[in-house]
Amino acid sequence: MTNQEAQERIEKLSKDLHHYNYMYYQKHTSVISDYDFDKLLEELIELEEKFPQFKQDNSPSQRVGGTITKDFPTVKHRYRMLSLGNTYSKDELLDFDKRLKKLLGDDKEIEYICEMKFDGVSISLTYENGKLVTAATRGDGVQGDDVTANAKTIKTIPLAAQGDDFPADFEVRGEVFMPNKVFEELNAQRAKEGKDTYANPRNTTSGTMKLQDSAEVAKRKLDAYLYFLLGNNLPFKTHEEAIKAIERWGFNVSPTYKKCTGIDEVMEYVNYWENERKKLPVETDGAVIKVNDIDLQEQLGFTSKSPRWAIAYKYKAEAASTRLNSITYQVGRTGSVTPVAELEPVLLAGTTVKRASLHNADEIETRLQLHEGDTVFVEKGGEIIPKVTSVDLSKRVANAKAIAFIDCCPECNTQLIRKDGEANHYCPNEKGCPPQIKGRIEHFIQRNAMDIDSMGGETISQLYEKGLVKNVADLYDLTMKQLLTLDRFGEKSARNLVEGLKQSKSIAFARVLYGLGIRFVGKTVAQKLATHFKTMDAIQQASQEELVAVEDIGDRIAESLIEHFKDQDNLDIIQRLQAHGLQFEDNTPVLQKDSDKLDNKTFVVSGTFKHFGREELKQKIEANGGKVVSSISKKLDYLIAGDKMGPSKLDKAKKLNVTMISEDDFLQMIGQQPPQSSAPANPTPTLFD
Ligand code: IVH
Repeated sequence: MTNQEAQERIEKLSKDLHHYNYMYYQKHTSVISDYDFDKLLEELIELEEKFPQFKQDNSPSQRVGGTITKDFPTVKHRYRMLSLGNTYSKDELLDFDKRLKKLLGDDKEIEYICEMKFDGVSISLTYENGKLVTAATRGDGVQGDDVTANAKTIKTIPLAAQGDDFPADFEVRGEVFMPNKVFEELNAQRAKEGKDTYANPRNTTSGTMKLQDSAEVAKRKLDAYLYFLLGNNLPFKTHEEAIKAIERWGFNVSPTYKKCTGIDEVMEYVNYWENERKKLPVETDGAVIKVNDIDLQEQLGFTSKSPRWAIAYKYKAEAASTRLNSITYQVGRTGSVTPVAELEPVLLAGTTVKRASLHNADEIETRLQLHEGDTVFVEKGGEIIPKVTSVDLSKRVANAKAIAFIDCCPECNTQLIRKDGEANHYCPNEKGCPPQIKGRIEHFIQRNAMDIDSMGGETISQLYEKGLVKNVADLYDLTMKQLLTLDRFGEKSARNLVEGLKQSKSIAFARVLYGLGIRFVGKTVAQKLATHFKTMDAIQQASQEELVAVEDIGDRIAESLIEHFKDQDNLDIIQRLQAHGLQFEDNTPVLQKDSDKLDNKTFVVSGTFKHFGREELKQKIEANGGKVVSSISKKLDYLIAGDKMGPSKLDKAKKLNVTMISEDDFLQMIGQQPPQSSAPANPTPTLFD
């Protein structure tokens, strides 16, 4: 195949697949069989691999994911992402309408657009020349996380706008969510595999959008409703015209929107949907009421937090009553015991609820005074996991026995303890209680600690049950032969695990310290200790006074550290980890600021360089006030381009007109001379590419 043929075929396939996607997801029409669709997609992926120079930025192949994002870069929102004021009663809604009429100085009925309030994760999509360039989470409203690769896997988010009447630059906002059905299927699958189930669709959506592997996100089948268009000099006079336009351009707009003239019609809308919303495929927690006329919106303006022209009406948290079948107890990594109500499954706000949190002993014995076989009311409000609010005493069976909190650990039978003033019971058998042992290992390998993502909870369980691993140091003694005895473990997964363990040896000291799971030593505390004391030895030697002298370290943390290091087993583990080559010294150089020359400037560093490694260049950028990001966008200030830079990066930078500079140009910017020696520096691998 010639280059030209490849280019033409890639263009044709991309165009056709976009069209099939649009017809299927937006118009609910299949123009092509699933099989044929997959075949064309496969052909496209194959061609793109062979001819990467012709891969389109918005290629439909991105729907299957594949991009790995280690840390999501931060993006500043062009327009702030505000929240909405809330109302909880009809009276408050009437007040809202009155307030607007007064502000506008006009008694005329106001035209509103009402829509359901979807319980998901808000997203902002930026399009340039009709192509999706950035998808960002809300973050703090001023800046959010760049989750473009993940958002591109959501089939109803157009990679390219349809039609020819969209503005050159625009932003569309909406809500990403996991449809209830998808959520239930996911949980059913997890339960089958013996994994913990997720609490609710909203949190699962939020967790999914933060996954580093976009191919995993693609599997989660998220969806999105878009409800807000932003841009300069848009030609629309009403909100309704704007949402009709985005619908035309291929965005998924919820069919729940309706124009209502006057607050009475708004009330009718709100009442109608109070029950009807339970039939929707997505969780909703209220309605959003927006002034339709954009001139009026502009007259009303914003408060510091939210638009004056819109408000949310929140439905009451839904309640249902069901039978309490039993109480189970979960033991966490630190030994704390949490009771869980096992309920007769009941439909609540669109999802089936089988379990609810009971928090602690007081909740069971004092507040609710639960009895065996009680009928309880459960409630679910917004993002909170369902909770038991009260007992239906009229249904209590005569002579039912009061339920008492357990005395012994459900996992290892050790007598539980409850310290003075604490609400929770603990199992003190730290070293022999299986969930505590496994929990500590899970904590050690997690992303914020050693980041060994080739190992999961199930593998840990198997390793523990086979007696191969009892503590985190044992992980580093594992052999390929032992790993190959695990279920579902082949050559490849075993190798990945060994590689993951090997790579973890270069993880910075602060994260190793956090990974040890010392009580009260969270991420920030671990960082402070590492920065202050520099070595593990110094922390171990430190007295209570020396420990509390560190910022943010109080008596409770200091005592916990001292306690931890008193235990010979803990010292042995540290020693063994040290012998395996893990980092127990803080090697991060103290960043001394050289200048402010690069303040507010962002850089991408790509390729290999004559004088410096990429890591060194990064440090120089930061030392002069600049910021290093990982992906190229229109907002990027400079790309420091070295040799052997990836063609797709180069292409993207050219397309977006990003200023490209050489290593020498950069040195000039910060007023430094290139070093005399011409020996090439070792390129630091994989930090930015
Ligand atoms: S309109 C200027 N419409 O609710 C404000 N928001 O509590 C534009 N939300 O941040 C927001 N469904 O993430 C709007 N139909 C809907 C919505 C909706 C959910 C979210 C949105 C917003 C939050 C405010």
